[in-house]
Amino acid sequence: VTIRRSDYAPPTFLVDTVELDFDLDAASTTVRAKLALRRNPAAAADAPLHLDGDGLTLVQAKLDGVVLPPERLAFAGDGSLTIAGLLDVAVLETVVRIAPETNTSLSGLYTSGGNFYTQCEAEGFRRITFFPDRPDVMSRYTVTITADRARVPVLLSNGNPDGAGDAGEGRHRARWVDPHPKPSYLFALVAGDLVAVSDRFTTRSGRDVALNIWVRRGDEDRCGHAMDSLKRSMTWDEDIYGLEYDLDVFNIAAVSDFNMGAMENKGLNVFNTKYVLASQESATDGDWQGIETVIAHEYFHNWTGNRVTCRDWFQLSLKEGLTVFRDQEFSADMGSRAVKRIRDVRGLRAAQFPEDAGPMAHPVRPDSYIEIDNFYTPTVYQKGAEVVRLIHTRIGATAFRRGMDLYTARNDNQAVTIEDFVTAMQDASGIDLSAFYGWYDQAGTPELTASDSYDPATRRFTLTLRQQTPPTPGQPDKHPVPIPVAMGLLGPDGAPQATRLAGENAAQPGTRTLLLEGTEQSFVFEDVPAPPVPSLLRGFSAPVRLRGVTRDRLRFLAVHDTDPFVRWESGLQYAASVMLEMVAAQQRGEPLGFDAALAEAVANTLAAAGDDPAFAAEALSLPGEGFLADQMEIADPVAIHAVRQHLRAEIGRRCRPALRATYDALAETGPYRIDGTAIGRRALRNTCLAYLTAAGDGPLAKAQFDTATNMTDSLAALSLLADTDGAARDKALATFHARWRGDDLVLDKWFSIQAMAARPDAIAAVRALYTHPDFDLRNPNRARSLIGAFASGNPSQFHDLSGEGYRFLADAVIALDPINGSIAARLVGPLGQWRRQAAARGTLMRRELQRVLDTPNLSKGTFEKVSKALL
Ligand code: ARG
Ligand code: ZN
Repeated sequence: VTIRRSDYAPPTFLVDTVELDFDLDAASTTVRAKLALRRNPAAAADAPLHLDGDGLTLVQAKLDGVVLPPERLAFAGDGSLTIAGLLDVAVLETVVRIAPETNTSLSGLYTSGGNFYTQCEAEGFRRITFFPDRPDVMSRYTVTITADRARVPVLLSNGNPDGAGDAGEGRHRARWVDPHPKPSYLFALVAGDLVAVSDRFTTRSGRDVALNIWVRRGDEDRCGHAMDSLKRSMTWDEDIYGLEYDLDVFNIAAVSDFNMGAMENKGLNVFNTKYVLASQESATDGDWQGIETVIAHEYFHNWTGNRVTCRDWFQLSLKEGLTVFRDQEFSADMGSRAVKRIRDVRGLRAAQFPEDAGPMAHPVRPDSYIEIDNFYTPTVYQKGAEVVRLIHTRIGATAFRRGMDLYTARNDNQAVTIEDFVTAMQDASGIDLSAFYGWYDQAGTPELTASDSYDPATRRFTLTLRQQTPPTPGQPDKHPVPIPVAMGLLGPDGAPQATRLAGENAAQPGTRTLLLEGTEQSFVFEDVPAPPVPSLLRGFSAPVRLRGVTRDRLRFLAVHDTDPFVRWESGLQYAASVMLEMVAAQQRGEPLGFDAALAEAVANTLAAAGDDPAFAAEALSLPGEGFLADQMEIADPVAIHAVRQHLRAEIGRRCRPALRATYDALAETGPYRIDGTAIGRRALRNTCLAYLTAAGDGPLAKAQFDTATNMTDSLAALSLLADTDGAARDKALATFHARWRGDDLVLDKWFSIQAMAARPDAIAAVRALYTHPDFDLRNPNRARSLIGAFASGNPSQFHDLSGEGYRFLADAVIALDPINGSIAARLVGPLGQWRRQAAARGTLMRRELQRVLDTPNLSKGTFEKVSKALL
């Protein structure tokens, strides 16, 4: 069934208060719910009550104290329940049974390691009790939990604690009251044998908040960074947005079986352990940064998501795009803004651009879906954040802050739409933002082309910008969208120039932002003494593909531009253009050659690396295989891989002394630290190691692996060793496994590294890992670490012409779908990119998609992905 945005209808009944009573038992939990119902004034006077339900065993239902006979209960095929003939005010009491321990979907109430956890976004609450499970029904919750005291000593839910006590027969009970109205997707319950790492935070207005991170016994010493990140997030939201926390406790619970990264349930965030637990020995620098970002993201949801929530799931980006924008800005403030922006853009282009060019392309605000779970996407999250950033750029930071104040004040405790956000920004700035809805409603990545001319007689420089968005499924015709182009001009000597547009009376120094509103627009700059080089899209001011910058200019900008993003981007685009030419040569069977300018750029970057090692590491990283594939109409993953390997080796050979000197100079001497500088130094050092290894310096990686004292260095070396043949590789992998076999998060890395190793027998190795005793299809992290890492992170092997890579993925998806349809639907994605592969591969990919589609009882989510991919 396709759900359409245009079909929105308000709920027939509102639920003012909810009392929930859980009698917890892994095999059979009883849930009693008491709903205070009130007819929605916006609905028809005789409309029936509709309650969602999924897999619930109804024991009893009472309306206003009277047991409802079966003929009053109209069940639908999807498990939902309709009751007609209610008065305008009514109390419904239901009793249902559920079985947490057999719930492998990890949606609703489930068990993990003997403890109880919930995940309700988007539609999991209906797996717990009958309820209008939609975000525009906001209620005040009181929750009572009863369980065995010995096995389930900790009982948590949303809000503030409100008493606890004995329940007889070895059982105990706790009550939680959440004073803030919330939609059902923010409900949470966590119970089990957990320990807390605790701290406190005093808000700006003086509220004393107890902070707790709940983990399994033994993990207490790995929560420090998460706690620090939480306190920094709380301070930042007060400083930047004036937003304070609003309960007496803030609980975080970490669980190793979790579908996503984390969840912002009111007062009780639930996190994948991956985004909480870290130590020097077990966590990479990427892990530290991921924890900081995700902790911040979930905390920031308390205002952008919880206090102000979404009317319906089509508005998902209202909270996700905005909250990603907020977490990006937080991380930028905590470390290097430039490097953070580069990483975010890398991520956007690795995941969102291909999505926007594939069969699942959808607008930031989709028009329809079959399974909403499939729309927690890079488009809704990352592109959504870019659209918020466009508005921020367009109206400026000060007006944006006023807009946020207005948005939260107007919409507090309400379920609203993207219009409410845009309107607040418009009212606060006085700038008409109506054209920005194009960014929310149109799928596809706009292509921006620039051309220019210089007239020495008039000293005028004319810059012409054009835009065009390619068609996407269901949206053949596209309209222009407003594109802010942050830019500047450089003189022939590389010096930045002040700019004056025709009609302005004074020149502006530094970066200025042009707004391209139509399909094509020319901007005339006056008083330009010599032909300049324009620097465009500084800071990646819009999520577009910029085309038509010549290689000469890219080289010039990579050296001279004042904007670090454009310097990095120009180097990247230069390398990409060279590499794509090499791919064409490889396809024709011609020699690959070498562009000496690349080695020169590496040498220059290394020479200047001391100033900003993190930036240097980014600048030294060649465009990834996925990025290159995305630049090609028809990708050639095998040729791309060969070219990239060839280039790495060639650069490594030509720059060996400088790479080696940098590698040696950056050896860790003092204590382990995780600040931006220390992380940057490790990143740069490991980038050098990769080039040196590619150039044939095998022993270096082995030596680093043997002596590393932190996970970043250990894993960097291991991933290089995993790409080689023979005994050293097998020994290192075995050593690593023996050392870490008891640590799931590290074992995930062990699986991933092997899944991504481009060894010639990669598929056989991956199949063998699939039957390894430590592999567990039911655990999402583990499934992703093998299946996802192979299909998305090992393109040259996944796309092996035998089709065995595709077959492996389809086999895994078919096996996983009945266990956890949500994860299965996510993993099947790479097969959907068949249009971007040559016919021989495309045919094999479609055959596997068809095989998945023909599987009986496919989940809605997997069905949607596969059927849309085959259209
Ligand atoms: N709201 C959560 C977050 O962004 C993600 C929840 C995802 N749930 C899902 N069913 N896809 O932090
Ligand atoms: Zn979120």
